[in-house]
Amino acid sequence: MQGRRRLVGASAIGGGALLLPGVASLARAVGPSSTGTEGILGCSVALPESARTVAGEAPTPLADISGYNNYYEFSSDKRAVRVLAQALTVSPWTITVDGEVEQPFTVDIDDLQRLFGSEERTYRLRCVEGWSLVAPWSGFGLCRLLGRARPTSRARFVEFTSLHRPSEMIGQRVAGGLQWPYREALRIDEAMHPLTFAATGLYGAPLPRQNGAPLRIVVPWKYGFKSPKAITRIRLVNERPRTSWVAAAPSEYGFYGNVNPDVAHPRWSQARENRIGELRKRPTLFLNGYAAQVASLYAGLDPATLF
Ligand code: MTE
Repeated sequence: MQGRRRLVGASAIGGGALLLPGVASLARAVGPSSTGTEGILGCSVALPESARTVAGEAPTPLADISGYNNYYEFSSDKRAVRVLAQALTVSPWTITVDGEVEQPFTVDIDDLQRLFGSEERTYRLRCVEGWSLVAPWSGFGLCRLLGRARPTSRARFVEFTSLHRPSEMIGQRVAGGLQWPYREALRIDEAMHPLTFAATGLYGAPLPRQNGAPLRIVVPWKYGFKSPKAITRIRLVNERPRTSWVAAAPSEYGFYGNVNPDVAHPRWSQARENRIGELRKRPTLFLNGYAAQVASLYAGLDPATLF
């Protein structure tokens, strides 16, 4: 969207790149099965079939999902991302889980996939800009990965850091824009919710680079900016992290980013959306249609503060 691109162009470029700490131990720390933290925090809660699929809404064709992308590390031109992202090396790749955990670890993406296998989740994705799609992701519940690290009682938030590699990500070399690396975060209960997904595939094939290969987070009840791509580090923390879009435009993007047709963005309505490939706009659903699963997370909080 034009307005958002203007905003990106206008915001200050950031300096501090976060470098991944030493990545020596690879799969070693992802040892035998976890102690049961998963059960306490949500992995044991089975998702109903209706939340794993989107009944009555056809998945968006692969050519559209992988041909129209938001990925500012490459470009703010959604149709250029598909081409520019092919410069990215996605193997080898490691992911570090650390911070407020009893068992920090760094794991190779291939070991991670062997360990957790793969299941399918077809979810709606609603961008804050007003477009949407339905994507058949494959991967595993994020709660399984977090459970392995055994969060301590001080872990209240989960911060995700995307790759910082200007040599391959041309958008990180251009002045102006978001501060790199791209950062997002969730409350721990949101991160552990069984809907929250670590996607490694799309349409049964490895995730295309432009969609966040080799691993991206998918949080289907939140605007798309809360679903960060190309994750290298997951840090559990006590304080609410500063996230990329909130830092760039605090009056326009909130920490929660919950989809809500009744809470307008300061510059446009969020009541309706353009499903890619459809001519007519459709109404946007509260919490993107996942209210039955997640509305209870926000009981007692003013919906207007949850944008
Ligand atoms: N992750 C990173 N690292 N960089 C980004 O620019 N854009 C976000 C999100 N994840 C973004 C990101 C936004 S605004 C949206 S709408 C979705 O990715 C788009 O995902 P898609 O291109 O797979 O549809």
